[in-house]
Amino acid sequence: MNRKYRKTIIAGNWKMNQLASTIKPFMEELKVNMPRTKTCDVVLCAPAIMVPALIRAGKECKIASGAQDVSCFEKGAYTGEISATQLADVGVKYCIVGHSERRQYHGEDDMLVNAKAKALLEKGIAPIICVGESLEQREMDLTMEYVAYQVKAALAGIDATQLRRCVIAYEPIWAIGTGKTATAEQAQEVCEGIRAVIRKIYGARPARAVSILYGGSMNAKNAAELLAQPDIDGGLIGGASLKPVDFATIIAATAQE
Ligand code: 13P
Repeated sequence: MNRKYRKTIIAGNWKMNQLASTIKPFMEELKVNMPRTKTCDVVLCAPAIMVPALIRAGKECKIASGAQDVSCFEKGAYTGEISATQLADVGVKYCIVGHSERRQYHGEDDMLVNAKAKALLEKGIAPIICVGESLEQREMDLTMEYVAYQVKAALAGIDATQLRRCVIAYEPIWAIGTGKTATAEQAQEVCEGIRAVIRKIYGARPARAVSILYGGSMNAKNAAELLAQPDIDGGLIGGASLKPVDFATIIAATAQE
């Protein structure tokens, strides 16, 4: 983390878990365990149907509400889709785009990820842009090349002012839901590389101000070490964000110097 230049963000990705009816007890438990923090933005990305309940329950803990996906279209005949305008209208502040599960199960490509990020930025929602390599790519030593390509593609046509609202999440696919975390050195190396890519496009100042998160089996035990890395500005947390005590512990880990 480097709080002097950028925001620290702990974002939970609930994926297709939890229920609107269980949000209240979740928040109550989180509130009891959560440290009061002004230096860290806490976000929960819930299934869209649960966002209003999340906003109601999250007010007291100052949790920003996030969504997990958005349509790249503004409005119209796109059955089943949800637009950025609709997300903004109910109070969504952040939205994940390009998660590897959407790339894998829904065939999302980098152009679509870029279009979705732009649709969100137009409505004032911060995109959390996910990138990350597969195990094969890592083993073939293609990690940085591939991640750099993903970052460039996702940011195409986004100007420096809009970049300020963007968050990048480095999520190696092999670490997601596997219990196999990237080592702090591996994660730092790629996050540093991502910042270098952004620096090349936008210059030193904008690159210094972008929050880059790590995601992939981050938990209450390994969070502190990952967050101590200079280019890791927070986490995008799946499984551990479903457990209020663990999620609170990860938030607390941002309090380190
Ligand atoms: P896990 O923390 O369960 O590995 O999930 C990470 C993730 O995909 C967050 O978006």
